[in-house]
Amino acid sequence: MRYIGSKKLLLADIERVIDENVKNAESFCDIFSGTACVGNYFKKKYRIISNDLLYFSYCIQKALIENNAVPQFKKLGFNPVEYFNNLSETELSYLPQDKRFCVNNYSPVGNRMYLKEDNALKIDFIREKIELWRRESLINENEYFYLLAVLIEAIPFISNISGTYGAYNKFWDKRSLNKLIIKDLPVFDNKKENKVFNENSNELILSIEGDIIYIDPPYNRRQYSSNYHLLETVAKNDFPNLKGITGLRENDKKSDYCRKHSVLNSFEDLIKNARFKHILVSYSTEGLMGINEIEKVLTLYGTNYKMYEIDYRRFKSRGKCKQEDNLKELIFYVRKDL
Ligand SMILES: C[S@@+](CC[C@H](N)C(=O)[O-])C[C@H]1O[C@@H](n2cnc3c(N)ncnc32)[C@H](O)[C@@H]1O
Repeated sequence: MRYIGSKKLLLADIERVIDENVKNAESFCDIFSGTACVGNYFKKKYRIISNDLLYFSYCIQKALIENNAVPQFKKLGFNPVEYFNNLSETELSYLPQDKRFCVNNYSPVGNRMYLKEDNALKIDFIREKIELWRRESLINENEYFYLLAVLIEAIPFISNISGTYGAYNKFWDKRSLNKLIIKDLPVFDNKKENKVFNENSNELILSIEGDIIYIDPPYNRRQYSSNYHLLETVAKNDFPNLKGITGLRENDKKSDYCRKHSVLNSFEDLIKNARFKHILVSYSTEGLMGINEIEKVLTLYGTNYKMYEIDYRRFKSRGKCKQEDNLKELIFYVRKDL
């Protein structure tokens, strides 16, 4: 999935920093996991602890990190992914009006253009089916979250947006005309008890410990809850009140890491309370915290401080405008003697 601040293209760099500084480790914590691509990558080496404030991220983490196999759906008795991809119009038409949240709020029926009406209806139908199967105990918890994850992963491919759900396009983008297609997700078996959470990082940190923690907080004021509200609503299925033209969720969780006045205190609190021997932090030279501020906090609580710079254009894979020439993606390392 396209995600602000995704570290998909930085995985080898993170691994290099670990290889250079960490001799023995058994566990790895990805405390701001977003798409879960970092935890999933390091699942081959470590027992993973993973967390994010957003519930849709938690669903993906449950599917990819906590699961150690693609579920079998034995009790259901058929392949739900195939079933979802072959829904007939008649079957879809049976979905009651009060279950059509996406149709009534994110498609032209609700005066918004995030989704074409047929795709919105399919999402509503699939979401309702997943909930029904869970209620009737036809699927277990692993199967439930796996199905939520495959649905969530499919939605961005047919969404009428330019990157995030902060706004929809005024004209239908080519991708939004495609049909929703649900695809299986590959699940790696590391034969370990991986654990995932949906908590505020600064609260969770008080109850976990391990060897390596990877800290990848938001860099700027853009709240993830606003930029991915539609995925959050599908994941939660909570039929929220929406506000404004863009249909943001009312009363969403806001992150202190996206606020200039609170970010540094939150960061210091997190580092202070981290019971991990090795701390890695990802940040950008354009972030709300300055390099000096980060260095000050890390050296206050850790030793062996190092900072690695990665060229932004390489990180982004496609070189773009000149403005970005000085932009650098940073990885900090400190050792914490517990
Ligand atoms: C830079 S992104 C992480 C990207 C991720 N490493 C990836 O590659 O997909 C930051 C993430 O932090 C989450 N977040 C923001 N504030 C948080 C908090 N206080 N506790 C936990 N997660 C938080 C956001 O929801 C977002 O997914």
